[in-house]
Amino acid sequence: MPFSEDPNKILSKKPVGIILSGGPSSVYDDNSPQISNQLFRLDIPILGICYGMQLLIKVYGGEVGSSKNREYGNAILNHDGLSKLFYNVNNLTKVWMSHGDYLKKKPEGFTVDAITKDNVPAAISSKDKRKYGIQFHPEVTHSKEGDKIIKNFVFKICNAKSIWTAKSFIQNQIKTIKDTVGDSKVICGVSGGVDSTVTVKLLYEAIGDNVIPVFIDNGLLRKDEFEFVKLMFKDRMNMPIKSFNRSKHFLDKLKGITNPERKRKIIGREFIKIFDEISKKYDKLEFLAQGTLYPDIIESVSVNGPSAKIKSHHNVGGLPKKLNLKLIEPMKKLFKDEVREIGRSLNVPEDILMRHPFPGPGLAVRILEDITKQKLKLLKEADSIFIEELHLQGLYDTTWQAFVVLLPVKSVGVMGDKRTYQRAVALRAVSSRDGMTAEWTEFPHEFLKRVSTRIVNEVYGINRVVYDITNKPPGTIEWE
Ligand code: XMP
Repeated sequence: MPFSEDPNKILSKKPVGIILSGGPSSVYDDNSPQISNQLFRLDIPILGICYGMQLLIKVYGGEVGSSKNREYGNAILNHDGLSKLFYNVNNLTKVWMSHGDYLKKKPEGFTVDAITKDNVPAAISSKDKRKYGIQFHPEVTHSKEGDKIIKNFVFKICNAKSIWTAKSFIQNQIKTIKDTVGDSKVICGVSGGVDSTVTVKLLYEAIGDNVIPVFIDNGLLRKDEFEFVKLMFKDRMNMPIKSFNRSKHFLDKLKGITNPERKRKIIGREFIKIFDEISKKYDKLEFLAQGTLYPDIIESVSVNGPSAKIKSHHNVGGLPKKLNLKLIEPMKKLFKDEVREIGRSLNVPEDILMRHPFPGPGLAVRILEDITKQKLKLLKEADSIFIEELHLQGLYDTTWQAFVVLLPVKSVGVMGDKRTYQRAVALRAVSSRDGMTAEWTEFPHEFLKRVSTRIVNEVYGINRVVYDITNKPPGTIEWE
């Protein structure tokens, strides 16, 4: 919920705990997010992360030292073993620190429970053990035991109960969908990816043939993907889908466009226009279903400004203000691992559930300049070699996502005694749990060597391959 939410609305949800997230501001900034004191006066456990910790320090009378530069990086945390927050966490544990503003003076009654190797206070708690602050980010994959720390807060400090199951989610959603849709029809965009496949399967369980799965080839799909997905639905999901090849239309609209946000907006807008057009052919078609997940929303929407907008994910950012169809997004509160669990309960085959995420704007955001047929062809060929090799070497399933990016760079090379002056590509592969944070994958060198050799030998027009070794944060997974 946004920090500015009416405290009575927050309390009406009967929270058993509150987590104050991090954010880019400093507590002393003029417009920094502040939270109603009403919430601090209650006996509800609070965990403040980074900025949230600084807010706790300020509210409880301590002092925050400000620093102009906010940096992030790996650090080793050393905790004293006394705080419930660190129950079962190694005394020395790797965390992702935010070195921005820092604890200058503890609020009265607070203790420092952990420091980093450089003696920076990294965790504090109040005497009554209801308020906790941490200077690092437990939610990012670089914090090795971050999950444990969050679980400790949720289950050991807030005493929350774990009652979410895929089955209960499915039952509730089926009822909600039936109640919402009645006997109207729903058009659902599918892409062959996990999110839309599980979404359409759930809708199918709820309303049967009243869901119309639509698959549009926007010309920005991976090599052979259009045919693959059509067969996948026909043979393995037993679901008839309507497919349309609109590649030319999309490529025309994208002609000459280089700005990443514009590409995303155009693609989102054109998708919706096509859905609108198709839906007019059906009686009583009133709804559009999308496989939007929670990370798509967080990274696309700016809540009153402070949670900075990262990118417009197409199925959020591209929606027009006035949509003729009503939107259904049953997965919008979920993360990818939960969607996969739901897919398993709905008997979606495992290899489909384990397909790597693929962004709605597709290869458009993997060509770092304007899009042409020729560049798409190069990228598709190189990308298919990388993916094929991952399968062959048994590395596909252990990688969250892997792909090739076509760089706007030409470099000199030599092949068979001849000078070449051709394109460079970057290989990108990361491990992650939800796409929100990610670490670049440490593949065996032999594997990288093989992929690089194959791409340069087999794709005429590419003479150089580099490997992206940037984590998220600070990078994003896609390059645009
Ligand atoms: P970034 O690049 O933001 O990506 O770190 C996080 C995850 O989201 C995927 N992604 C998208 N998915 N529509 C989508 O459905 C989009 O516009 C979009 N942009 C990025 C990305 O591939 C990664 O898995």
